[in-house]
Amino acid sequence: MEVIEQVSALRAIVAALRCGGKRIGFVPTMGALHEGHLQLLRASARENDITICSVFVNPTQFNNASDYKLYPRTLEQDTRLLQTVGCDYLFAPSAEEIYPQQSVLQFSFGALEAVMEGEHRPGHFNGVATVVSKLFHIVQPHRAYFGQKDLQQVAIVRQLVQGLSFDLELVCFPTVREADGLAMSSRNKRLSEAQRQLAPQLYLALQTAAANLHQKPINAIKSEVAQQLQQEEEIKLEYFEIVDSLTLQPLQDVSGHDEVALCIAAFVGEVRLIDNLLVNLKEI
Ligand code: PAF
Repeated sequence: MEVIEQVSALRAIVAALRCGGKRIGFVPTMGALHEGHLQLLRASARENDITICSVFVNPTQFNNASDYKLYPRTLEQDTRLLQTVGCDYLFAPSAEEIYPQQSVLQFSFGALEAVMEGEHRPGHFNGVATVVSKLFHIVQPHRAYFGQKDLQQVAIVRQLVQGLSFDLELVCFPTVREADGLAMSSRNKRLSEAQRQLAPQLYLALQTAAANLHQKPINAIKSEVAQQLQQEEEIKLEYFEIVDSLTLQPLQDVSGHDEVALCIAAFVGEVRLIDNLLVNLKEI
């Protein structure tokens, strides 16, 4: 595996690969890789001739300076892991390399960014859209792989791909969980042992809510989730929403919907975690 830090070097490699007819799979990440990332990378290695992974902690998508500062950075370990999953190129640029000038681009995703992560993390999706657009232009992948844990991000990137006519296929992979249900996330590394024990409560709350979808009105389910999580002092619920799985708009009633998404964000101590469940209402 080759490690590339310069945009110009990666552009030259990509041009030669595409000229040689190679199909490129791309896994964009912010590093601190876990099994969830590795599954995306293995899929890319299986489905494409060449796999490129980027590790870049993107400053423009953090609306909170301390979250950016504390985001885990484990490039040496990431490099070792990438060598085990068939990755051909690791792109690990500096912030100056990606942003030689301050970015002033503004994206607007309408209703899609007015809810949940967009509502609670102002500017977050603008930063995601900016960096993902830059990376897509540099890497020019045939396929790009994202995890369902960041469900709203996937919807935003889908809209970005359509809106800007990126010529690539977006692949979304199911969330990978620890044995106790906690969704794998780079941020889990920041949890203390006690917080790590509490963190699966988010998934438990989603499961309880899903089981009640046909039995109780949405408002009652939402109150129960809030009450369930309030019992733990270290957990501060930011939002819990039941949304249409495509538009991600909050629902007052699930009738008439085939599939809904249950989405949650909460602080466990100082660490902000998100999770979601897609529920096919015909199957429960
Ligand atoms: O999901 C992430 O890790 C990031 O938001 C991404 C897509 C790599 C953009 O920085």
